[in-house]
Amino acid sequence: MFCLICYFILYTVVILFILYLLFLAYLKLTTGKCVSDAKLDNKTVVITGADKGIGYETALDLARRNAKVIMACRDLENAKKMAEKIKSETGNKEVYVRYLDVSNLAGVRKFATDFLKDEKRLDVLINNAGMLSASQDIVRTSEGFEITFVTNYLGPFFLTSLLLDRLKKCAPSRIVNVSSMVHTSTTETDLKDLNSEHSKNVKMLYSRSKALQILSTKELSRQLEGTGVTVNCLHPGIVDTNIFSKMKGLFSVIVKIIIFLKLAKTSKDGAQTSIYAAVDENLKNVSGQYLSDCRITASSKLTQDMALAKKVFDISEDYLGKF
Ligand SMILES: NC(=O)c1ccc[n+]([C@@H]2O[C@H](COP(=O)([O-])OP(=O)(O)OC[C@H]3O[C@@H](n4cnc5c(N)ncnc54)[C@H](OP(=O)(O)O)[C@@H]3O)[C@@H](O)[C@H]2O)c1
Repeated sequence: MFCLICYFILYTVVILFILYLLFLAYLKLTTGKCVSDAKLDNKTVVITGADKGIGYETALDLARRNAKVIMACRDLENAKKMAEKIKSETGNKEVYVRYLDVSNLAGVRKFATDFLKDEKRLDVLINNAGMLSASQDIVRTSEGFEITFVTNYLGPFFLTSLLLDRLKKCAPSRIVNVSSMVHTSTTETDLKDLNSEHSKNVKMLYSRSKALQILSTKELSRQLEGTGVTVNCLHPGIVDTNIFSKMKGLFSVIVKIIIFLKLAKTSKDGAQTSIYAAVDENLKNVSGQYLSDCRITASSKLTQDMALAKKVFDISEDYLGKF
């Protein structure tokens, strides 16, 4: 009897292990890779949050393609170290660091003003910087914005609008917004109080910020028709980066298990769709799309509502009034 139970347990473990290996193989095979060998000579790229994780790997790849890379980061010490690493790995000396805290709108304006004064070109803007707050309370910046809303959405939205004329002058040019699959849990109610003036619900802040990115991508794309500037957004996959480091609770446990089981992507794999959106020739005339694993895919039904997209875009512009 005992042996029968042992045999059953062993059998189950072996089957589970085989299923796990098959799933790993499936993930490896379906992970999108940017296969384009497009070069970016004489092109200037701005990548926010380029000193860590997905942003770093994106900067490294685009530097390898000979782009002039501007790493827009707030951790200057680390960013300078990583810029040196990119230079030595790629041989590209045109890798620069500029200070940018996207959660501070006055700072975003200063970054854009200095950039436009010093740089002639902007060919690709990658809004990659993002955060996931671990706080159980609404956290506000000194300018009065809820931190996740302004970091993941309003700051990048403002940056894009300030740099838009230069992107138009350098067309064909591209804007890439790094969103997330998590946007799918956002409901229309979540979009009624963008700066959390009334609601104290912190659980949906990240997913809402990512849904806002997609909605504004859709509306901006509509506005940019015929200008030669494209704008797309994307989900990079579940990627083993620092973004989860401060998280607590059940979601954090699930993510840690996924990472432990090697089911999450490496940062290099996680950067592939950003790189694809930035360089692939097949996307030359593609705009307003949501990408995942280097393919166009469908975002949630809510984020495909063009009337809602316009409304969100207009409200966002209103927030920027005094900046
Ligand atoms: N990892 C995933 O599974 C996953 C999944 C879906 C979407 N994403 C998105 O992918 C993007 C990159 O994230 P990651 O996973 O690579 O995380 P990460 O390793 O934590 O990198 C995030 C980068 O954004 C920067 N950043 C955060 N707040 C900033 C601010 N206020 N101003 C300027 N830079 C700021 C960080 O700089 P500091 O270190 O100085 O804060 C860091 O350089 C994010 O938009 C994230 O939402 C990630």
